[in-house]
Amino acid sequence: MKRQVSGAQTPYIGTATRGLLPGLTCGLVDPVGVEEPRLSWEARLPVAADVTVHAGGREVWRTLVPPGTSVVDVPGDRLDPLMPYTWRVEGHATGTFTTGLRGRWDAPWIAGDPEAAVALRGSFTARTGRAWLAVTALGVYRALLNGVRLGDEELAPGWTDYEHRVRYRLLELTDRLVPGENELEVWLAPGWYAGHVAGGGPFRYGDRPAASAQVLVRDDDGLRRVAATGSAWTLHDLGRPRADLIMGETVREPSGRSWPASEVPAPEISVEADLTPPVRVIGTVRAVTVTEPAPGIQVADFGRNVVGRIRLRVEGPATIEVRHGEELTATGRLYTDNLRTAGQRDEFDLGPGPHVAEPAFTLHGFRYAEITGWPGALTPDDLEAVLLSSALPVTGTLTVSDPAVRQLIANIGASADGNLVSVPTDCPQRDERAGWTADISVFGSTLGFLRHTQAFLSGWVTTLIDGQRSDGAVPHVAPVLPEYGYDSPVWSDALVEVPWLLWRRYGDDRTLRRAYDPMRRWAAYCLAQADEGIRPGRALGDWLAPGTVETPKSLIATAALARSLRLIAHAADVLGEPHAQEYGEAFTRVSGAFQQAFLNGPRLRTETQTGYAVALAWDLIPPEDRAASAQALADLVRDGGHRLMTGFVGTPLLLPVLSETGHHDVACRIFNQEGYPSWRYQLRAGATTMWERWDAWHHRNGLQTPAMNSFNHYAYGCVGDWLFRHVAGLGDDPRGTGGGFGELLLRPGPVPLLRQAHARYRSASGTVESGWRAGPDGVQFTFDVPEGVTARAVLPVRGAWDGMTVNGTFLMGLNEQLPTTRLGDGGCALNLPPGRWSFTAPGPAVNHLLQAWDELR
Ligand code: BGC
Repeated sequence: MKRQVSGAQTPYIGTATRGLLPGLTCGLVDPVGVEEPRLSWEARLPVAADVTVHAGGREVWRTLVPPGTSVVDVPGDRLDPLMPYTWRVEGHATGTFTTGLRGRWDAPWIAGDPEAAVALRGSFTARTGRAWLAVTALGVYRALLNGVRLGDEELAPGWTDYEHRVRYRLLELTDRLVPGENELEVWLAPGWYAGHVAGGGPFRYGDRPAASAQVLVRDDDGLRRVAATGSAWTLHDLGRPRADLIMGETVREPSGRSWPASEVPAPEISVEADLTPPVRVIGTVRAVTVTEPAPGIQVADFGRNVVGRIRLRVEGPATIEVRHGEELTATGRLYTDNLRTAGQRDEFDLGPGPHVAEPAFTLHGFRYAEITGWPGALTPDDLEAVLLSSALPVTGTLTVSDPAVRQLIANIGASADGNLVSVPTDCPQRDERAGWTADISVFGSTLGFLRHTQAFLSGWVTTLIDGQRSDGAVPHVAPVLPEYGYDSPVWSDALVEVPWLLWRRYGDDRTLRRAYDPMRRWAAYCLAQADEGIRPGRALGDWLAPGTVETPKSLIATAALARSLRLIAHAADVLGEPHAQEYGEAFTRVSGAFQQAFLNGPRLRTETQTGYAVALAWDLIPPEDRAASAQALADLVRDGGHRLMTGFVGTPLLLPVLSETGHHDVACRIFNQEGYPSWRYQLRAGATTMWERWDAWHHRNGLQTPAMNSFNHYAYGCVGDWLFRHVAGLGDDPRGTGGGFGELLLRPGPVPLLRQAHARYRSASGTVESGWRAGPDGVQFTFDVPEGVTARAVLPVRGAWDGMTVNGTFLMGLNEQLPTTRLGDGGCALNLPPGRWSFTAPGPAVNHLLQAWDELR
């Protein structure tokens, strides 16, 4: 069964003055709590422009930025703490930001309960002026003023490495204050700090959650603190005796019990303004059906796999248990084996009368809920799933003619949203839910098309750096969980890959700079391990690859080291650091060692798809052998019946490498494969999110390996990157080193079985479009190139261009304005100036594509 779903439709922008672009500050719309503002506006300026920053109508800073600029840094020392500012790029863009506290956090901390969610209450007298609540917790909190919730953030302040730092938010109170006494309330639950984390039991960071909050008022005399958490506060029962992210929550009537707050020593860690997007409710999904597989046991199906919790409408009294899972057993009961120790169990103990009940501090991955104790008849209308996510703004869309591929794209988006909850996680259902490094590293480029990732991933890079060991080893998960290990190739190389990605997408040289020394320490660690350039194989290899021939782990390790060395050399260039040559030479040494150890001429000694994919993608094959190596890979795939045999390492590279080396037809056949293992295989099996394993469910063996079988894992969603770049044709040059998506490579690749594909992406340099449509008379290619970027288009046409037109004129007649180069394979390449372009390629120029389609039909 196929269902059409879409990812979070987060409004991308706040409101902007007419005619101006909405600006971002540090990658966010109008953020509150900024120490070093970086302003950007998703376009390259056609002319120089004045940038001004104002506070309360007064200009506090001005600069002139040159043409081509899309970002500028405001010097932090010009700014006051906790002050709202507006900014404007004359004639182009506008935005706002509010500064953070710009100083040490010194409000006292008070303790919560080790297992329950409790309410911490305190009061203060309103003063004139603008007022904010600054609040943080070791645990997760919700803040209320006079009984009304402040903001819509969930699970605040998120998961950081609490050994190093925790984040605070600033919530404005000004319009919410009442004259006289105001009551503040902070609901506090164990969260990641004291609740269960990653199968390791509760209390990983501490045995009791704690919170710290202060009210700050700005008036004509400046900024003052008027209230703070302390021993005058009281704790109150919230009717949530159990509130655990992984195990579940119990919801009942509050008892009315209260007791004095106890102050605890402030943690000796950094308390910082939060510049990551908050976790929020991104939508709700109604139950579709309810069945009763056994008397008194009802199972609700929400029609798609989601991440969040269930809101129920019920007439009490009632004692209800709700368990959540992704699959059903053969008898229609909830399948829980793949959850491992994750309880995913909520309880509702409700008094007489109507209730709308919902947990607040837990999170489940589920499509089905098994419910016992429901009073009377349960109908789908009684239940809705409330979806939680870090709600990254939508930046890219991909439309294609094939409904199965549309479902695949929706599944990728759904797995992205469901696994971006404060940190980028592997999965949302079992007792793991950790910030696995390779998963985001291989999925990052796809995600970067679909969602605006800058602020989110930049925050996560800090967490990853926090987890780096003093000897340079990089953990496999961030926040670090030492028992999950360190130093696996590709996994730990995320410390290089993700900051580089942020540079390429957003021109984010700040994250790159922050990661630069840690990257170098990581490289030194790996080089010290290497024996004559060969890095020993480490644990994970080509994780979850099907098939029997294993890609040698030391091949992957050495290739990943070479790749990181080369990226560090590029980073040195970008940052103006003096080590580019050093890392360039190290790359040459390691790639030479790779060739010696693993190649025999153009062929790999152990031939695997992943081996060829990494060698070709990361430029480890001598240029003269590249074509023959690519041919060997294509032959290997063909001989294997066009079935992919790749795991986490090879999958993101296989299709792009084939398409880049002239074997797009082979890539298309892998993509169109419907048998096991393939993307279409999971779609045919009714997947609504991406599977962790190719054989998560197998037609002969059913549900696989309960110990590790997630139905909501975004890693294999990495094929989205190929769909954008090689099918719709929208991308930047994969070998380029420029920042901010300013060097476009538009390379559409019509795919057999599709009739049309079109991508649109709000890049840091403006909105780009690329697509094609096939009709009986040929193929039409369309592009939209924003101002100020360079764009090279490569069209997969063959033979004479006689009939080809561009924007209605014959291409051949435009040689002066639009010089066109013929490529080795007969295609044509040209540089496209900014604007909208429409090329028509009549039958003879695209017959080779049409023939391939016929053959496949
Ligand atoms: C996780 C991953 C991860 C892998 C590596 C799994 O348990 O879910 O996706 O990358 O372990 O060991």
